Amino acid sequence: MLKKQLAGEKAVEFIEDGMVIGLGSGSTVFYTIQKIGELVKKGLRIQGVPTSQETTLLAQSLHIPLVSMDEVDEIDLTIDGADEVDRNLQGIKGGGGALLYEKIVACTSRKIIWVVDESKMVELLGGFPLPIEVVPFGYKQVVRKMEEEGCHPVLRISNGSPFQTDGGHYIVDLHMNKIKNPENLAEKLQKVTGIVENGLFLNCADQVIIGGQDEVKIETR
Ligand code: A5P
Repeated sequence: MLKKQLAGEKAVEFIEDGMVIGLGSGSTVFYTIQKIGELVKKGLRIQGVPTSQETTLLAQSLHIPLVSMDEVDEIDLTIDGADEVDRNLQGIKGGGGALLYEKIVACTSRKIIWVVDESKMVELLGGFPLPIEVVPFGYKQVVRKMEEEGCHPVLRISNGSPFQTDGGHYIVDLHMNKIKNPENLAEKLQKVTGIVENGLFLNCADQVIIGGQDEVKIETR
């Protein structure tokens, strides 16, 4: 079995009947959602809150009952992927461009589990380019500012045009290589007008399920 699949499928063991579940985005949580679909077919009663259009379509195809963010007061458990995770379980997300909705769902969740394969575990964040979600109006000003700050910004392009998120924003990837102080950087980015959200998910995951060759490891914060 693929490492991603091992991690993704393991996460369903934390789901209980009646829960409201945040459904993350990406190729690892894909396996979680598939498994949830199987369990729903067998009678599990949950409601899912999807974090992207892609996840909405996947969950609908599996007949997983869905509710929107505005229909729930709280989410019991969110299961999501991540692009990089350090030993303190701080992470980078947004490789697929869903960071804003993922963070909104994460902020409303009582418990958060990330599912990753072991290649995502790093000593220091930043090897994976840090995505920031940017308002299209005046985005070049943000790019310029990030250049001045030494963050090595690159506008994400898809099919020859700027990649657009589900929220209609652009993504700029910061090729920083090493992020020595994620808290400081997150604080700095939050203050820049035009940046809607950044992909640093700090003090967020309660547990990370790490898929290895033949087994999973679970790290708890
Ligand atoms: C989506 O924008 C991301 O935050 C994903 O959760 C993250 O990129 C992990 O995706 P994979 O499981 O496909 O690597």
